[in-house]
Amino acid sequence: MKMLTVIGLITLLLSQPGWAQAGSVPGDDKALFIADLLQRMTIEEKIGQLRLNCIGQQMPQETFLEEAALGQVGGLFYVTGRSDLRAFQDAALRSRLKIPLFFAYDVIHGHRTLFPIGLGLASTWDVDAVALSARIAAKEASADGLDMVFSPMVDITRDPRWGRMSEGLGEDTYMASRYAQVMVNALQGTKLGAVDSVMASAKHFALYGAAEGGRDYNSVDMSLPKMYQDYLPPYRSAVNAGVGAMMLTYVAINGTPATSNTWLIHDLLRKQWDFKGLTISDFDAVNELVTHGVARDGREAALRAIKAGVNMSMTDTLYRKELPGLLKSGDVSQEEIDDAVRAVLGAKYDLGLFADPYLRIGAAHDDPPDNNAEDRLHRAQAREVARKSLVLLKNRANVLPLKKDGVVAVVGALAKSRLDILGTWSSIGSPVQAVSVYDGIANALGDPSRLLYARGADITDDQSVLTYLNQPGANPSDVEVDPRPAHQMIEEAVKVAEQAEIVVAVVGESRGMSYEGASRASLGLPGYQSELIKALKATGKPLVLVLMNGRPLSVGKEQDAADAVLETWYSGTEGGNAIADVLFGDYNPSGKLPVSFPRSVGQIPMYYNHLNTSRPHLLENPRAVTSRYFDEAYGPLYPFGFGLSYTQFSLSDVTLTSKQLERSETLGASVVVKNTGQREGETVVQLYVRDVSASISRPIKELKGFQKVMLKPGEEKVIQFSLNENDLKFYDAQLKHAAESGEFRVLIGLDSQNVKERSFELL
Ligand code: BGC
Repeated sequence: MKMLTVIGLITLLLSQPGWAQAGSVPGDDKALFIADLLQRMTIEEKIGQLRLNCIGQQMPQETFLEEAALGQVGGLFYVTGRSDLRAFQDAALRSRLKIPLFFAYDVIHGHRTLFPIGLGLASTWDVDAVALSARIAAKEASADGLDMVFSPMVDITRDPRWGRMSEGLGEDTYMASRYAQVMVNALQGTKLGAVDSVMASAKHFALYGAAEGGRDYNSVDMSLPKMYQDYLPPYRSAVNAGVGAMMLTYVAINGTPATSNTWLIHDLLRKQWDFKGLTISDFDAVNELVTHGVARDGREAALRAIKAGVNMSMTDTLYRKELPGLLKSGDVSQEEIDDAVRAVLGAKYDLGLFADPYLRIGAAHDDPPDNNAEDRLHRAQAREVARKSLVLLKNRANVLPLKKDGVVAVVGALAKSRLDILGTWSSIGSPVQAVSVYDGIANALGDPSRLLYARGADITDDQSVLTYLNQPGANPSDVEVDPRPAHQMIEEAVKVAEQAEIVVAVVGESRGMSYEGASRASLGLPGYQSELIKALKATGKPLVLVLMNGRPLSVGKEQDAADAVLETWYSGTEGGNAIADVLFGDYNPSGKLPVSFPRSVGQIPMYYNHLNTSRPHLLENPRAVTSRYFDEAYGPLYPFGFGLSYTQFSLSDVTLTSKQLERSETLGASVVVKNTGQREGETVVQLYVRDVSASISRPIKELKGFQKVMLKPGEEKVIQFSLNENDLKFYDAQLKHAAESGEFRVLIGLDSQNVKERSFELL
């Protein structure tokens, strides 16, 4: 083995506790280093590396430490903080071969500083802003000793009943794929072994977002062309960006759970996509193969998972218990186990942990005196990204922006919540450090006498919903209920509204309603919030709705009642300030929806890039017998890509550089966008393509590019896009990825519905 020659590094290693008699010092040749280590490992030590565990009932801390000291566990998750993690690494380094642990955590939209949830990040249509949020998350997570984050979550979903839609990046394949790429790059940094880089573990491979009926953990049944075309590209984009790990989904795909799906892991991920990293099961998923009904018992579950290519078992009991016997009986080969161990050791090597197991934990004397110190947060960046994530959906008669010299009534149970605004999967973000909408408005007004408040309505008072949301440990919600009767609270809110010049009602869902296991059968505002809005409207005061929710809601009636509607998702630590920036016009909103809002739950799935069908709805003849629901208005409440600004923009017709595209060439498409309003603002120019006639029916439009542009009043800019053969390719019925000759349309707009179009021919 080629030994490391850098004396400084060796001195550093020797200075670390437990590392003094290190078994292995890594050389530059990763394969050689791992091969050497592997041949010195016992079978128990090998299997130990395949276990990613957390502390809990199944594995108390003492047990974990004992097993780590025996080299029988590979990684730890759900613990963060340098001093806490150090003890675990010390234990691992007491083991015979001193193989370090890696430390993982769910860092989805920030770590200490929370950025907007996935849907909010996607609403920025700003890849740099999304990358910034991920870079800061990596810095904060690594500064807390973490090596790996279970992120990005790139599951495409078109069913808002699914509570985990909140974590993802929306309904569009192209957009989620671009975000996946920049997030992986930002998390992993320029070098994975750097002190402020963390390994990304993209999830949930694959198709978790397509769970039938939006019911969490439910199965997915999908044709291969649809899978390849619409759902798989974001995972592939993460792989192409060099993602270090991939977490497998719980769900069964066409009958086979991902955790036992050889086609998915071996054939697709490893062979077709050439993924060289680490595969990790989801929480307890190896065990759940028995529940799925694809394994008779734990032995068979472990067998199926390892054979399918699941390298690491999260919350493992079965790999440890069953793999030795499976090896002995010959059901599992030494090579299969070694392959999995190689992937784990490879991740640790890439993370720089063999060179320095304390790389991210650091030395005790450098520990932050206070983990929660203010100066460990990145407030300015969080506010900046949060502002960009807010989507103005309605603004009748320019009721917004508000003046700072009026009396404002803030109403709603969510208005003062510092917990909800963080969103779910909020890592170790502290509600105490979060800015609520009320706080943000108070900061902006500066004068408490002009700010009135009433709770107005609870998020829900349905006892069974409350019992679900407030059960200890299972859901991060903590929904408080006001003991007063609903009508009394509404009356109080009306009185408060009557004393103000403007009413800001903060309504939506508690964060736990948009979470794992939190699927909803309806998409309305829960509780008495709709009644509250009705009563507020009746006061005649201008009414602004600030929506806080983790999925599109069917709020048609409420939007009719309101003068303005601002979608804020769960906007993070600085959310309240960012929302106030938009409400008072210190920031001109620029966010656009990354998802379609259905008018009612019966319209689901609702997505902009659907097929045309044999009888599409005819706007000019709405009574015709067409593909629609006769008891609901046609189309979405708000379309994909939609979002207003405090200024207005106009768009010219589309110009193409040619009417024909040769396969080796590029076609230019351009429009002139002009700010026709009174103030500076940003908008997003969106380019869609339609393949008019092909061997299989193609969507009425598909996003292929977008550009965010800032314009002064009266200013105009030419926005140029280019298209080539690759942009026009799709998977046909035989899964051939090719562009078929014929007519295409280029559609450019400031949302997905109002577009200018022009045709060309692919030769
Ligand atoms: C979730 C994953 C998460 C894991 C660890 C699972 O229940 O599906 O998204 O990374 O738990 O927290």
